Amino acid sequence: MDTEVLRNAPLFANLDDDVFARLTAELTEIDLPRGASLFREGDPGDELYFIVSGKIKLGRTATDGRENLLAILGPGEIFGEMALFNPGPRNASATAVSETRLTGLKHARLKEIIHTTPEVSVQLLQALAQRLSRTNESLADLVFSDVPGRVAKALLDLADRFGRPAPDGILVAHELTQEELAQLVGASRETVNKALAEFVQRGWLRLENRAVVILDLQRMRQRSR
Ligand code: CMP
Repeated sequence: MDTEVLRNAPLFANLDDDVFARLTAELTEIDLPRGASLFREGDPGDELYFIVSGKIKLGRTATDGRENLLAILGPGEIFGEMALFNPGPRNASATAVSETRLTGLKHARLKEIIHTTPEVSVQLLQALAQRLSRTNESLADLVFSDVPGRVAKALLDLADRFGRPAPDGILVAHELTQEELAQLVGASRETVNKALAEFVQRGWLRLENRAVVILDLQRMRQRSR
């Protein structure tokens, strides 16, 4: 397995070679096609995952079947670590939104390394703190922002992480359906479609298949506040 990409990830970058070798002696490589489920909320789990390429959506399902997306994660990010520190079933479902390659790492193996290598704990704490900060922000937006504001903010966040320059703006190949985008901002598909149509009509955005081009970054930023 090619461990080069793992070596450069913040979680592993500062490890001595022998510690890195111990940690990566027992990795699994997983390739998921678009739409494939890795695990479901409530499943048992003893592994965390590092995203090598592609995108993963983390979501929860209400008792009436409605879905809410907690996050879209991309290359370099990790997930599936919660049960390591807070033993219990998986807190959310993980599904590939595009063709995705993951590296799986046993919790037990990481636990051993944590005891001898405090830098790994610091990196994990940093990742958890960033996640909490993001979640607090989403929670506040759900209470204080309207749906178009939340849609603008979600698209800007996706642009920050997955955007690429295009001739007329920033291409954001988010890979999400409009239903998934609605689940990410916690609104109905109809309301999200209306917000997108309004942005298009104002000339701030162009819609493509599972992608958008942000044409007017400044206006989108203003609308997201
Ligand atoms: P785990 O509970 O093992 O499996 C589901 C994973 O989803 C969980 O670990 C976290 O890694 C991740 N997760 C849960 N909640 C959030 C969130 N609010 N933001 C980002 N990731 C999350």
